[in-house]
Formats: sequence, C-alpha cells, structure tokens
Amino acid sequence: MSLPTSLYGLSRRSLLGSALALGACQPAAQSQTPTVSLPPLRSIAPFPVGTAVQAVHLTDPNLARLIAAQASQLTPEWEMKMEYIVRDDGTFRFEAPDAIAAFARTHGLGLFGHTLVWYAQTSPAFERLDEGRVSFAGAYRNYIHAVVGRYRGQAVGWDVVNEAVAEDGEGWRDSLWSQRLGAFDHMVLAFQNAREADPAAKLFLNDYNLEWIPKKRATFLRLVERLLAAGAPIDGVGTQTHVAADQAPGEIARTIAELGQFGLQVHVSEFDVSLSRAKGLRLNRLELERQQAGVYAEAAEAFMALPSRQRFAFSFWGLRDSESWLKREDAGDTPLPFDDQGRPKAAAVAWAAQVG
Ligand code: G3I
Repeated sequence: MSLPTSLYGLSRRSLLGSALALGACQPAAQSQTPTVSLPPLRSIAPFPVGTAVQAVHLTDPNLARLIAAQASQLTPEWEMKMEYIVRDDGTFRFEAPDAIAAFARTHGLGLFGHTLVWYAQTSPAFERLDEGRVSFAGAYRNYIHAVVGRYRGQAVGWDVVNEAVAEDGEGWRDSLWSQRLGAFDHMVLAFQNAREADPAAKLFLNDYNLEWIPKKRATFLRLVERLLAAGAPIDGVGTQTHVAADQAPGEIARTIAELGQFGLQVHVSEFDVSLSRAKGLRLNRLELERQQAGVYAEAAEAFMALPSRQRFAFSFWGLRDSESWLKREDAGDTPLPFDDQGRPKAAAVAWAAQVG
C-alpha cells in the first residue's frame, strides 16, 4: 500500500515508608543518594509504563539504558507532531520518529504516536492551501494516512486529537482544523482517517488540567460521549496529568475514575509533578518532595483502581529530571521519577508501592 508522501498526494506501607525515609535521609539541598534500590518500573507494574522521549536522548548511553530498562512504551515528545514532520512546502520528514521507532523495535518497547491533530500546531502548507487545487480535507487525510500508515503494525496507539477542550472548559477550542473542517467534524474525520490508516492502533482523545478544572473535565467527558454517539472510532481517553506538588488530594483519583466510566482504555499520558509550580505551599524542598511522593502514590493507586482491561498505560513525561520540559520554566524543578543521575526518587518508590 503506497502512503502519501506529502500533504498534496515498593510490602506497600513498608515501601511507601522507605520512600519517605528516603526523602528524610537526604539533606534537602543535595542530590539524592537513594538507600533503596527499586526494580525496574516496567517489571513492577501490571500495565505498560511509558515515557516521552526525543531522538537526541537515544544518543546518550546512560539515558538510553535507563529508558530501555524502565519503560515498556515510548511516546515521541515532539518529533511525531506536525511541527517536525510537515515541512513548509508540504513534504514530510521522518528521520527522528523513525529513529525512535527503531529504538523501540530493538528494545521490544511499544510505540505510542503523539499527536496528529492539535490546535497548537498547524503548518504553512495547510494554511495556504488553494482549495481550487487540493481540498483541505484531502490534505488532512493525506497527512494522517502518511503518518499513521508509516507506523502501521508497530504503533500501539495514537493521540488522534489533543487538547480539543477550551482552557476554562467552556466549549471546544477554535483552530485551523475546526475552521476549515468543522468544530466537531474535524475530530470525527481525524479518528476515521486514523482508523483507516491503522485498524489495530488504539485511538485516543487526550487533554490536560482535567484534575484541576472540573468544568473542563465535564466538557471533555461530554465530548467523548458525543464522539461515541457519532460512531467515531475512539478507543481511549488520555489525561496528561501535568500536576504540581500542591495538587488537591483526591482530584486525580476522581478524574481517573470518571474517565473510566465509558469502559474505554485510559491513558495517564504525560505524568509529571512539579515542585516549582506548587505555589500554594510554603514548604522546604524535603517537604515538597514528600508531597510529590504522595501525588505519585495517588495517581498510581487511582490507575490501579481501574479494571485491568482499561489500564492502557501510565506514561511519564520523561524519566530523568534533567530532560523535563519543566526545566525550561525553572531549571531547579525536579518533577520526574528519577534524578539527574537516573536514580529512583522517593516519588518513584511511592508510585511503585501502589502498583506492585
Ligand atoms: O531540538 C530542537 C532544536 O534542535 C532546535 O534548535 C529548536 C529550535 O527550533 O527546537 C528544538 O526542538 C524543540 C523540542 O521541544 C525539543 O526541545 C521544539 O522546537 C519545541 O517545539 C518542542 O517543544 C515540545 C512541545 O510539546 C511542543 O511540541 C516539548 O518538548 C514537549 O514537552 C511538549 O509536550 C507537550 C505535549 O505535546 C502536549 N501536552 C503538554 C506538553 C508540555 O507542553
């Protein structure tokens, strides 16, 4: 089948206790020298453990080794998005996602595609389409078929539509896609095209702040219902879960439980717990790390409370603090399960205690 080449054609309490003990024995200002060794997260969890990754990460031997040891599934952090793949002239480039896909194959890891349609990314190649020559819908279809079709038989799933719900939950976002193809129809079309391109891949609607803004969660859930009612081939729901150490207890658990109501696959798709963004807390570093471990534990416990058939994957948005996107906001932030040296942190031990 030829693909388009351009737009145009861990005992719980004792483990948890050791997590806190781990925190307690670390002088707050120094890097952690864990006294607890932890089996690989992928060997503890009864579900796939994912991580975001960039092609450049795979050229760092220590990081590549950590990823291969700890994760069972990879999500390209940015190189499977339109911003990388679609050149301004409408042709496609795949060197980086192909490198990530090759690493996944070599190490027996799953590959999760992120993301096809996102309000935040378009391309001049779409924006200047001359409807007289090539229909916008045709270019949209070519792009989805080119990308999803390329990883057919390898990708376990795709974030087909990302962040469709408005920031405050009042309706859906406006985008080039909604303007040119319809507010709802562009989403249905994206799912239909992705299903045609790879019938085996699980297709997701993904969003963020669902545990922070109840109105946004409600609107997201209604969108899922509407997509199901319209017969869109949606298999799962992703909650990014980019949260902070001052996350209100119970909201993550409530969100994951509510997302499970449709019997669809649930993906915690981009988990990290920022310390720097925990503005509501007047705590020292050690106390923040304890809070962080508690948030990690809540998310893990809530994910485990789902029926096993609905636990698609629990993906961290990176494994080692040094690679976190949050470092761009505050270089001192440490949101991920492993420290800069790839050692498990109290948060990782607390997470493991809930899933093991
Ligand atoms: O690596 C290149 C560098 O070579 C080049 O010089 C530079 C300037 O063009 O770009 C660098 O790539 C950047 C890449 O991050 C790696 O740092 C891209 O421009 C930049 O757009 C990309 O940002 C990513 C962002 O999504 C947009 O795609 C972040 O890494 C990634 O963490 C972030 O992830 C998003 C999820 O997709 C959706 N949910 C929120 C999450 C965090 O914002």
